[in-house]
Amino acid sequence: MALWGGRFSDAPADAVFALSRSIHFDWRLAPYDLRSSLAHLEILESSGLLDKSVASQIQRALKELVTEVASGKFQPIASDEDVHSALERGLTEKLGETGGALRAGRSRNDQVATDLKLFAIDHMITLANSLTELQSALLNKAKEYADAPAPGFTHMQHAQPILFGHEIAKHVHAFSRDLDRISDWLKRTSVSPLGSGALAGSSLPLAPEKTAKSLGFASNSANSIDGVSDRDFVAEALFISSMIGIHLSRIGEEWCIWATTEFAWARVADAYSTGSSIMPQKKNPDMAELARGKAGRLIGNLTGVLAMLKGLPFAYNRDLQEDKEPLFDSFDTLALVLPAVTGMVASTEFDREKMLQAAPLGFSLATEIADFLVRAHVPFSIAHESAGKCVALCERTSRQLHELTDSEFASIHPSLTSKVRDVLTVDGALESRTTRGGTAPSALATQLKELSVELSSKAKEFSSAQKAFHAMMGA
Ligand code: ARG
Repeated sequence: MALWGGRFSDAPADAVFALSRSIHFDWRLAPYDLRSSLAHLEILESSGLLDKSVASQIQRALKELVTEVASGKFQPIASDEDVHSALERGLTEKLGETGGALRAGRSRNDQVATDLKLFAIDHMITLANSLTELQSALLNKAKEYADAPAPGFTHMQHAQPILFGHEIAKHVHAFSRDLDRISDWLKRTSVSPLGSGALAGSSLPLAPEKTAKSLGFASNSANSIDGVSDRDFVAEALFISSMIGIHLSRIGEEWCIWATTEFAWARVADAYSTGSSIMPQKKNPDMAELARGKAGRLIGNLTGVLAMLKGLPFAYNRDLQEDKEPLFDSFDTLALVLPAVTGMVASTEFDREKMLQAAPLGFSLATEIADFLVRAHVPFSIAHESAGKCVALCERTSRQLHELTDSEFASIHPSLTSKVRDVLTVDGALESRTTRGGTAPSALATQLKELSVELSSKAKEFSSAQKAFHAMMGA
């Protein structure tokens, strides 16, 4: 059903209709469109623009549509241009001309911005909840391996020993920042565009502050032109999704490396691995690879929308119809990736013995020698140089650092007494890194405790946000 046409003598050409149509992707906005219609109806009624009896007729029809859309009984048809026209057709089929009454004081411009915001808020909260599940899988793994030494890397080269729980826990922090971004986004996005009309507000006695409240927004747009043209919330949501995708891709890369025969640290559960169609022996970390690969698509969605918005004149322009598919795709993509990565993380076992054996390799304890000298008041530049000489001597003579003799140590630096051997153990190196955020067992225990507290408060925050949103939708 067309929502316009009075001033046209010809129907749109087929090509025009085909390009204009968005119903094949925006139909999923239907529940949000119906909910905002109910809020709009309330105002039309309370302001006296609609008789009580007409308003309650429309309300009944809208509520029927809510059920029929959910059950699939009411479906869009080929001639519907978009979700708004399809639903107005639904109302008109039920109520005749009265079905068109709801359009008073409202334009598709403020309507679509409102629908998309509600959709985005709903999906962002769901995303946050799945993220907390991944975080808790990571945190459990971190706790499981809180006492397992492993080599730590910089530049992909052995650097200093770490506890493997510390290695895993870092990902929980990255996702925590994503959750903070989501909380922040939810606050900033809590502005209702409804009431902005086409662009200039309305001459009818509407109360956009009230519709905003009834839809769970903190306020309504203070500028109607901005109200209909602001898509910052889409761009920001896509950035947040991309950042989450990037964090997932870094987990994916680590898992791929740790699962190689060369490393053989990670044993990914069969249920989260895939085989090869030709090589029967293969067990591939495809979930990790897809987690890594999907980041590209998430970034693509973000850059597509940013490019569409760049230079766009303010108020509504049809270009804005291009905001939906990338946003839908990013939420859909993460809804697929997150449970798979969560399962992969939860079901992976690591080879403690292998990691322990590898921890001191690559002279990863050389920093301990330098720090030992610093504690003996040797300037760090000289301490660094001396530790380097120890490494060079070991390399020349194919030995490990603790295998140097007392006289060799003393000849490199007089302060290198035999006591230096006490720090030349993986455990010693780990124990000493007690600064906040360091890898020492005591520091890690504090870190994991803090993470548990933070995680449960975030999980509470987003599950109550979800409850509140569902209550608003059902009201
Ligand atoms: N389908 C359109 C969109 O997604 C709805 C708004 C149409 N507004 C208009 N003035 N043509 O943006």
